[in-house]
Amino acid sequence: MSTEKFNVLDLFCGCGGLSQGFIDAGYNVILGVDFDQAALKTYKKNHANSDTLMADLSEDVAIEKIVEKLGERHVDIIIGGPPCQGFSLTGSRDINDTRNTLYLGVVKAVKRIKPKGFMIENVPGIATLYGGKVKQQIINTFEDMGYNVSMSEKPLLAADYGVPQIRKRMFFVGFKKELGYFEFPKPTHSPDNYVSCGDAISDLPGREDDLGQEEDDYTMSPQSQYQKFMRKDSTKLYNHVATKHTDHVKWVINQVPEGGNHKDLPPGVGDSRKFNEAWTRYHSRKPSKTIDTGHRNHFHYRYNRVPTIRENARLQSFRDDFIFCGTRTQQNRQVGNAVPPLLSYHLAKAISQHLEEVESGKKKPDNQGLIYEHI
Ligand SMILES: C[S@@+](CC[C@H](N)C(=O)[O-])C[C@H]1O[C@@H](n2cnc3c(N)ncnc32)[C@H](O)[C@@H]1O
Repeated sequence: MSTEKFNVLDLFCGCGGLSQGFIDAGYNVILGVDFDQAALKTYKKNHANSDTLMADLSEDVAIEKIVEKLGERHVDIIIGGPPCQGFSLTGSRDINDTRNTLYLGVVKAVKRIKPKGFMIENVPGIATLYGGKVKQQIINTFEDMGYNVSMSEKPLLAADYGVPQIRKRMFFVGFKKELGYFEFPKPTHSPDNYVSCGDAISDLPGREDDLGQEEDDYTMSPQSQYQKFMRKDSTKLYNHVATKHTDHVKWVINQVPEGGNHKDLPPGVGDSRKFNEAWTRYHSRKPSKTIDTGHRNHFHYRYNRVPTIRENARLQSFRDDFIFCGTRTQQNRQVGNAVPPLLSYHLAKAISQHLEEVESGKKKPDNQGLIYEHI
C-alpha cells in the first residue's frame, strides 16, 4: 500500500535531514518550520514540494502561524528535533510546567493538530536528564493528551541502520491510543558489516593541492555500493571545498595515524587541543565519529584536512543531490544538526507500515508493548 497519503509537519526542521528520510519513505512532507533562514533556504532547495515557514517555535503565536500556513491540509504525523537546552523542572508530572518552551512547541502543535502520531528526536542525554524525570515528563504529557508513547530502550545507533557514523540519538514515537504502540525497527547492520568512512567517501577528490569549488566534477567512478547510492541522480559534485589549514595544523595532524587522536602525538606536539576528541583522524575501515556542527577536531582518514561539507554530508547519509546553502559555517551547522536521512527513513518506514497494518485491520494494535519500554 502506498504511504503517499501520510502528510507530515516537520518542526525544528533545520536543513531537513529528518524530512528527507520521510520523503524517501513515501510520505508527503508538507511543511518545515524553523527560525534559521539559511537552513530553510537549504530545506526549500532540496524539498521543492514542501512549504517552509520561518517562525520562532518558542513563541505562542507560532502555532497560529503554522495552522494558517497549513490551510485546508491535514497533518498525519508531526516530526521534530527540538534542541534540549534550558530544561528546568518544577517537580510536576507534566512538561507544561517546565520552562522548556522549545519542547512545548511540539506539545502545542500535537495538542492543536491532533495528528495520528508524532516522532521526536533528541540527544541520548535526554533519557537520563534530571535522573530520568524529563523523559518521564515528556511521556506523561503526551500520554495525558491521548497518545501511546514508545521510547527506544537505548539510543538508536545510526551505524546499525547503514549510516557510516557512530551517532546515537533518542527517539520518542507516539500514536493515538487506538493505534497501539510503535515498535522500533530492527537494525539492518552490525559491527561486522558497518559502512566505513572509506566506503562512504573514497571516491571524492582529495583536495590537497586544489581546494576545489562549490560545483565540480567527479574524478572517479563509485568504489562501493554506498557510493553508488550516494551518487544516484547526481552528475556534478557540490559542496566539496576543502578548508585551508595552517602549515602547523597540517604538520600536527600528519603525525596522527588512522583512527588515532591527540594521545598518539609525541610529547609537546598539538598541545593547543587536548580534550577528548582533539586531533582525531577517522579510520578508513570504520564508521566516523559523530559529525558535529563544525568544531574542526575530526580529520580525513588520509588527507591532512578536516572533511569537506560533502564528505560530512555523505557520512550523515545525505545523497549528493542534496545541496547545502549558506556560508560554510551555516552549512556545517546544517549538516551536523541533522538526523541522518537513512536512519530517519527506517523509522519512517516502520511508522507507515504500522499505521497501514493497523488501519487496514491486518494488525491488531498492541497496547502492551513487548519489546520496548512503554511507560
Ligand atoms: C537539531 S536541529 C534539527 C535538525 C533537523 N531535524 C534535521 O534533521 O535536519 C534543531 C533546529 O532547531 C532550530 N531552532 C532552535 N530554536 C528554535 C526556535 N526557537 N524556533 C524555531 N526553530 C528553532 C535550529 O535552527 C535548528 O535548525
